Amino acid sequence: MFKHDPTRAELAAAAGGSDLAPVQLLAHGFGGLFLTDTLEAYSSGDIARLHLATQDYGAVLVRSREVPSARSFESFGDRFVPMMQHLDREGIPQYPLEGCSKISVLLHNTASLKANAGARLFHHDGWGHSPIDPGLSMLMAAAIPMSGGSTLIADARAAYDWLSPGLKNLVDHATVVSRMAREHVEAEKAEGRKRADEFEHPLVCHNPVSGRKSLIISDRTVCIKGWSRQDSAPLLNHLQQHAIQAQLCLRHMWQVGDVLIWDDRWVKHAGASDVLEASERELWRLVASINTQTGEFLK
Ligand SMILES: [Fe+2]
Repeated sequence: MFKHDPTRAELAAAAGGSDLAPVQLLAHGFGGLFLTDTLEAYSSGDIARLHLATQDYGAVLVRSREVPSARSFESFGDRFVPMMQHLDREGIPQYPLEGCSKISVLLHNTASLKANAGARLFHHDGWGHSPIDPGLSMLMAAAIPMSGGSTLIADARAAYDWLSPGLKNLVDHATVVSRMAREHVEAEKAEGRKRADEFEHPLVCHNPVSGRKSLIISDRTVCIKGWSRQDSAPLLNHLQQHAIQAQLCLRHMWQVGDVLIWDDRWVKHAGASDVLEASERELWRLVASINTQTGEFLK
């Protein structure tokens, strides 16, 4: 397990002789499907190979013959990098789950979707707290509705690649201002810090493992640094619509036990918007975040 964001050479060395490979790509080189009997069946080399695949394919889906327990899921996540205790523990109805200290529970039903419309918007988790960079996110389906309840993910690397050269040149050098997510604002308050609820981050992020760049934009992005909000709005709206066009998105229809892994720096996601009346979806979530000062993963 790495304490810091591993390089490609470190992951390749850790992968050793593992020849683990996806059995299928889910879309245009985005999303690799891996099949296994259990999560425990993966060797440490296989875990490093899965980590590399997450960087190369943007996202990885692990489907096990045996539905993983919460403990099995949590220890699987920790074998990649240290997963962190989620900031929004107060808001998690079943925390801690089965004695696990890092899994947060996402419950979606018609009422919760109505109450929290933001859950349906595309975003990159983690870009909401200045000393923290997002890292890996993992979701496991504990219960799925009779119909719908899918998760959308969008390839932020392809979103950058598909821009015209002139626009790439502009976004390459742009810093943007985004609104912090609610849980980060609450955490700031709880720790007695009085930071503004907006923060700056680059519009483009470089992935040193895959060598690719990604476009970091979401509905929380309010303006380009040095531009007025009025001037920024048309370009930000264009970039946001470009980044979530259908060709860049993958809709994952869950099976119970599915584990979907992505890196929030290269992948945007959106929650369910299609859970039907009297139906419920339960996902378990693990996240890893990086302290930008030390480069180490937060615990
Ligand atoms: Fe999210």
